[in-house]
Amino acid sequence: MAKVTGLEGVVAGETDIGLVDGEKGYLVYRGYWAKELAVSKSYEEVAYLLWNRRLPEAEELVLLKQEMAAARTIPEYLKQMIDLLPPSIPMMLVLQSAVAALGDKDNATWPPTLKQAIRLTSVLPTIIAYRYRKVNNLPEVEPLAELGHAANYLYMLTGSIPEEAHVQALSAYQILCMEHGMNASTFASRVVLSTESDICAAVCGAIGAMKGPLHGGAPSEVISMLEEIGTMDRAEPWIRKVLENRGKIMGFGHRIYKTKDPRAEALMIATEAMIGKDPSFDLAIHVEHTAIRLLEEYKPGRRLFTNVEFYAAAILKALQLDPDIFTPTFTAGRIVGWTSHILEQAESNRIFRPQSVYTGPMPETEAETV
Ligand code: ACO
Repeated sequence: MAKVTGLEGVVAGETDIGLVDGEKGYLVYRGYWAKELAVSKSYEEVAYLLWNRRLPEAEELVLLKQEMAAARTIPEYLKQMIDLLPPSIPMMLVLQSAVAALGDKDNATWPPTLKQAIRLTSVLPTIIAYRYRKVNNLPEVEPLAELGHAANYLYMLTGSIPEEAHVQALSAYQILCMEHGMNASTFASRVVLSTESDICAAVCGAIGAMKGPLHGGAPSEVISMLEEIGTMDRAEPWIRKVLENRGKIMGFGHRIYKTKDPRAEALMIATEAMIGKDPSFDLAIHVEHTAIRLLEEYKPGRRLFTNVEFYAAAILKALQLDPDIFTPTFTAGRIVGWTSHILEQAESNRIFRPQSVYTGPMPETEAETV
């Protein structure tokens, strides 16, 4: 019997939230191309679409923006709890702890509600910025209600009103991260919710899955790789050495995409538009081409191309974000997809309970018949 690993190709449910077609390189959110939404709509508009199955009317958008701005603040007890966590605790685990600590009787109910989804989505950037500034000995920056979701996140991190080009780049990145079918973290959130648990517990499960380098933890490793490579002439020997030692090149390969990840394509365009001609961008393009060529040489037929993490790293670096908050920033986009799946799971819930194939020994004695 073939070894059963990774649930590859297994259909785990139906969804009308998003389509990922890895052969054609399609990414669709509720009937719209994700890459078109990323350059034409705001974070809030796409969040509304994913939560409500349609784009908002002008008035509905105003109301959602108001609701999200009002839901950004973090309670005092949560700040105190975050402050008690030693600086060595990684941000993703701080996020998990903070989301769990928000699970009071309003936020942690069965079934989950859209209001809870909006609350968690709105508050996540504030938790990241609060913690980031605290561990870097910077004064706290309170959220600013008149700024949109993406602009306010940059504002809370830096303490300055961001340039429009930066807001658009971050918003495009987070929209492209919002939804991606039954990926590991989304699946984790649906599994947790399916026990009739609650949205805070389900999002905590998803954050845990997102933390790993095979999922959301890759962009900071892409930056380390580009920094280690340093110059174009060093790319080929560096990549060859990793592949000869059976290592992985971060930012390449995907379980679903066997062509270039459409999100990587859209991010490359957004990065170029934002930073223009820049040596670090030229190096990234050179590393991309070299790695694709060498991956085909060392792993023929595996069809390994650039994934979303590769250009995510470039865009987040161009925004001058600390690599420690790359994965949390991805998370602050993906939470819209998670909460949409959590709400969808609750609409027609059945507990996830797959089976496993037992490969251990049997007892040496005969089974007793009862
Ligand atoms: N570098 C080198 N070899 C690779 C890479 C890579 N980046 N990705 C896959 N391969 C090789 C594997 O070694 C394997 O080779 P083999 O057939 O000789 O054993 C083959 O290609 C298939 O790889 P798997 O790991 O089985 O593919 P899987 O679908 O399980 O994994 C994954 C996909 C985890 C993304 C993988 O490509 C990887 O580890 N990439 C690097 C990490 C990364 O970029 N993660 C971000 C993913 S994007 C996201 O989750 C948002």
